[in-house]
Parts: sequence; C-alpha cells; structure tokens
Amino acid sequence: GQVHIIDHPLIQHKLTFIRDKNTGTKEFRELVDEVATLMAFEITRDMPLREIEVETPVSKAKSKVLSGKKVGIVPILRAGIGMVDGILKLIPAAKVGHVGLYRDPETLKPVEYYLKLPSDVQDRFFIVVDPMLATGGTAVEAIRSLKKRGAQQIKLMCLLAAPQGVEAIQAAHPDVDIFVAGVDEKLNEKGYIVPGMGDAGDRLFG
Ligand code: PRP
Repeated sequence: GQVHIIDHPLIQHKLTFIRDKNTGTKEFRELVDEVATLMAFEITRDMPLREIEVETPVSKAKSKVLSGKKVGIVPILRAGIGMVDGILKLIPAAKVGHVGLYRDPETLKPVEYYLKLPSDVQDRFFIVVDPMLATGGTAVEAIRSLKKRGAQQIKLMCLLAAPQGVEAIQAAHPDVDIFVAGVDEKLNEKGYIVPGMGDAGDRLFG
C-alpha cells in the first residue's frame, strides 16, 4: 500500500504540540481530536460520488452525493479511541467497531483481548485508527482480525509511525494504504517511536 504523509500546515503545527512533553492531558486530547478531523478530510478524498438532481431555490442543479460503501471506524484500544470523535465530526453516520490489543511489555507482541465490529462488515469501508504505529505488530494483527471477519476495504490512520511499522504493514497488508502525519526516525529498545510523542494511550487517558 501507499504511505500518505499528510503534511498540511495545520496538522504539522498541531503535531508539534502533540509531541511536546509539556502539553497536558486536556490539551493533548483536544489536539489529537483536531488532527483526526483534519486527517479524516484527507483519508476520504477518494470516496466515490454519484450525480443527482437537486432543486435549488432558483432552478435545478446536477450535484453530487457520496455513493460508495458506508464507513466503519475501528479504533485500536486504547489510544485509538482518542481519534474517533474527530473523525465522526466529518462522517457522523459512520459505525464504530472496537479492537483491543496490547503489546506484551516483554515480547512487544500484540495480544487481542476484545473485538466487536458492526454487523454489516462486508458493506463498509474501514478506517483503522491508532495514534502510534511502532513495530506495526498491533496494527498488522488488528487488520488481520478485520479481514478474517470479512472486511474488504481498509485504510490505516496514525499520527506517527516508525519506518519499521510502515514496512510491517506494507509486507503483511499490501492492499492497505497508510495515512500518517509523520514518519519518525526509529524505535528505541522499549518499542517507543523516537522522537515520537511518548505513550499516546497514557497521555490521553493516564
Ligand atoms: C500502543 C499504541 C499502539 C501500539 C503500537 O498501544 O497505541 O496500539 O502500542 O505498537 P506496535 O506498532 O509496536 O504494535 P499500547 O500497547 O501501549 O496499549 P494502550 O493503547 O492500551 O495503552
């Protein structure tokens, strides 16, 4: 899949304060929410349209409405939750599925502990969201779970990625495009993105 680095000035500006360790929980949450909205604008750019006729107060116009699959948003628990409302602001009719995975602190391997998806999985285009794509293990597993239940069209939205994470997704899921505000230098020995933004789950929820 392709990697889209969303370098819109508003996103890059807000990302700076997301990275800043002096940004407190309230502001961090607000920034993540805002960036998710801005990224949703980009990730939906290729949604298909069809033409309909609408009566304006003056005459009739040929105009367009969305015509493709409906949207499903799937945050990876916990940190992904912080991006859901921001996306829903643009796509209020989307359904939200949840997938719970944590990284075993010793092995860094993802362990699934929860999965609940909308019932009409085949008919939706899914946006999997997680602020961090580090080793990529978590997102690779989450996407595998979705596909196993019938999801056919999936995109991944993250705030920050490490090169390893991007490579892992591209290797395991070549059909999944990645949308990210930045790709950082590397991972440290604890699996954190460097320079990154710290642990997004902790900074959002404590
Ligand atoms: C973080 C992050 C991702 C994952 C990324 O979650 O939110 O889900 O790690 O790491 P990976 O790409 O190396 O798999 P964490 O495991 O800290 O769980 P939490 O969101 O519940 O705090």
